[in-house]
Amino acid sequence: MSKPIAVACDHAALDMKNEVISYLKSQGYECVDYGTYTKDSCNYPDYAEKVCDAVNEGKSDMGILICGTGIGMSMAANKCKGIRAALCSDTFSARFTRLHNDANVLCMGARTIGAGLACDIADIFVKTGFEGGRHQTRIDMVMALENKGK
Ligand code: RB5
Repeated sequence: MSKPIAVACDHAALDMKNEVISYLKSQGYECVDYGTYTKDSCNYPDYAEKVCDAVNEGKSDMGILICGTGIGMSMAANKCKGIRAALCSDTFSARFTRLHNDANVLCMGARTIGAGLACDIADIFVKTGFEGGRHQTRIDMVMALENKGK
């Protein structure tokens, strides 16, 4: 992957975000850190939007969002057109959400998993490709839901 990975967190996940970025850099990946940069209380949708914009604008192929549970970030990210965000707390899900769902944003919870597991999950997510084939049909159906106006 040639484009940098877009990464952001809220105040609950600052330490984990920094560890994940350091790990990915050590593996040769470039990351752009969209914040937050302190532990001052902030609102996770602002950071989800920054990363999703980076993906939708083509600055990054993939994003990583981390909050306390990962749930708020995944809810916010999946409201952004073009985004397929997957909340993962295990490596199997990280692998298969790339293989089958072509997820373009990984969400994790800093209060639900440890930093070592988060780095493993991120590693598998960024290096696994989409299988395509029958899964593309289903992805097309998922994305068509965005335009149904329900
Ligand atoms: C912040 O306290 C917390 O609500 C947030 O990090 C996240 O867990 C929301 O889903």
